[in-house]
Amino acid sequence: MRIVLVGPPGAGKGTQAAYLAENLAIPHISTGDLFRANISQGTDLGREAKSYMDAGELVPDEVTIGMAKERMSRPDATRGFLLDGFPRNLSQAESLDAMLKSEGMTLDAVLDLEVPEDEVVKRIAGRRICRNDSSHVFHVTYKAPKTEGVCDVCGGDLYQRDDDSEETVRKRLEVYHGQTEPIIDYYRGQGLVVTISALGPVTEVTGRAMEALGKKG
Ligand code: AP5
Ligand code: ZN
Repeated sequence: MRIVLVGPPGAGKGTQAAYLAENLAIPHISTGDLFRANISQGTDLGREAKSYMDAGELVPDEVTIGMAKERMSRPDATRGFLLDGFPRNLSQAESLDAMLKSEGMTLDAVLDLEVPEDEVVKRIAGRRICRNDSSHVFHVTYKAPKTEGVCDVCGGDLYQRDDDSEETVRKRLEVYHGQTEPIIDYYRGQGLVVTISALGPVTEVTGRAMEALGKKG
C-alpha cells in the first residue's frame, strides 16, 4: 500500500506510523526523521534544514522534495510506503502525484489523524526522543520509559526536541493550518481521505487506523 499520514504536530503520526508500517510490512518514511538524521550527522542538508525547523517553518520545497524522492526510490519502497510528514503543502502534494504518475502508481489512502489542540500541546510538552534513533519516541506520562531519560529500545539518552518549545509549537500549528490542511481537501477531491480520531490509547488508535485502511486497501 502507498499511504500518506497527515495530522497536526504531536498528533501521534510518528507513533502510529511505526506500528502501521510494521503491520503492513512497508517502510515508514518520515521527512522530519530524515532531516533530524541529517542534522545529527552534520550534513549540509541538515544545516540548511535546522534553521527552518527551529523556527517552526517548512524547509524549502526544493530541498524537501528531492530528499523525499530519493528515499522513495530506494528498493524497499517498491512494495509501498507510509509517508509521515510529507507532503506538507500543495506543491509537495502535486510533486508527489507527478512522481507517482510517471511510475504508473497511485496512492491508496490518506489517513488523517484528528486531535484537539489542547491534547496536541500536552503530547508535545511531554515528548522525549532517543538521541540514537528519532523513531524511538516516549512521553513522560503517556509512554514513560522504564528508566527516566533512557531509551527502552536501545539504551540511548532521551532528549526534548529543539522545536518543541511552546513558541515554536504555536508556529508549527499555524503552519499546519495554513499550509498543510489544504492538502486534505486536495486529496478529498481524489476520494482518498479517511479521518479517524487519534484520541485514546496508542493501540486503540492503531486498531482504528487499520480498520479505516482496510476499507481503502
Ligand atoms: P516532523 O518531525 O514531521 O514534526 P510534526 O509534523 O510537527 O510532527 P511531530 O513529530 O511533532 O508529531 P507526531 O505527530 O509525529 O507525534 P508523535 O508520534 O511524536 O517535522 C518537524 C519539522 O521538520 C517541521 O516543522 C519542518 O520544519 C520540517 N519538515 C518535516 N517534513 C517537512 C516537509 N515535508 N516539508 C517541509 N518541512 C518539513 O507523538 C507526540 C507525543 O505524543 C509523543 O511523546 C508520543 O509518545 C505521544 N503520543 C502519541 N500517541 C499518543 C496517544 N494515543 N496517547 C497519548 N500519547 C500519545
Ligand atoms: Zn533508542
